[in-house]
Amino acid sequence: MDLEIQPVTEFKQRIEDESKLVFGKQFTDRMFVMQYDTGKGWHSARIQPYAPFTLDPAAMVLHYSQEIFEGLKAFRRPGGEIALFRPADNVKRFNLSARRMCMPEVDEQFFLDSLLELIRLEADWVPHSAGTSLYIRPTMIATEPMLGVRPADQYLCYIILSPVGAYYKGGIAPVKIWISDHYVRATEGGTGEAKTGGNYAASLYAAREAALKGYDQVLWLDAKEKRYVEEVGSMNMFFYYDGKLVTSPLKGTVLDGITRRSVIRLAKEFGIEIEERALTVDEVLEGAENGRLQEAFGAGTAVVISPVSDFCYKERCVRLGDGKPGELTMRLFNTLTGIQYGQQPDPYGWVTLV
Ligand code: COI
Repeated sequence: MDLEIQPVTEFKQRIEDESKLVFGKQFTDRMFVMQYDTGKGWHSARIQPYAPFTLDPAAMVLHYSQEIFEGLKAFRRPGGEIALFRPADNVKRFNLSARRMCMPEVDEQFFLDSLLELIRLEADWVPHSAGTSLYIRPTMIATEPMLGVRPADQYLCYIILSPVGAYYKGGIAPVKIWISDHYVRATEGGTGEAKTGGNYAASLYAAREAALKGYDQVLWLDAKEKRYVEEVGSMNMFFYYDGKLVTSPLKGTVLDGITRRSVIRLAKEFGIEIEERALTVDEVLEGAENGRLQEAFGAGTAVVISPVSDFCYKERCVRLGDGKPGELTMRLFNTLTGIQYGQQPDPYGWVTLV
């Protein structure tokens, strides 16, 4: 398939002061778009001016949420070059999500090449200040107008770009986590592992309750026993417990995070034992109280590494140590961002220069 590059005639006003960048509010001048029709396959691939879509009110995505997305970042390096972090992993996971949601897969090489071309054209939008990046959001939606419940026959796949600052307002500042004893995010056999909008919509109600109580995020327990900690919708969780780094196993309810994979690899290099097992909520609470739980942090593309200072479950609220980011958390954050921003070598081949 050819990639058409359309001209841009109107350019957007940029936020010049990069310290004012927030997460996901501003978008660049161009976007990648392609369409799919059953029998014809993917077609009409183009990089065009960023613009709203016209969608039929019966478009299936609007009724049955047949939608998937990805999140990755482009980083500005000290010499001015631009680097992507493990982009092929995101494209692979996009296709895994597509399969789970009965959507057509994309040609991985073509999609990756188109993404790189889009970043090249939008290179000026990659911010320069520490902690900033260009967030990349590949998305696919079902556009066929039809109210029957079945996989659609028409889709739109697109990539939009957003220059971003830190995901949480406080940057690397520790977050407070509410552990929900009632609501659940994902259940075995469900769609928890897929990056599909419905998983995130399902998390909003509990997130709002947590926010009202003064907490930043919700930590989800397993749906069956409501006993084991799983993930925080926007990040995988890691617990530095008894000198080992513990994280939930991948069994269909937890996202197979690319930052999660990178953290596991780095921690192994640091000589730290990894345990992929389900930690109980009691282990987290008691561990914080008796010191067995030394550190806890979330990991995800948007947040990178996000230290946790407090957990609250029912009426029991605990603080981890002095509430400040732990040593291992900071070492992982510094190494990961060092590789991403080109301040450290990349012995793992994670970086793709644009
Ligand atoms: C990401 O980390 O890129 C995500 O997709 C999380 C998001 C929902 C902000």
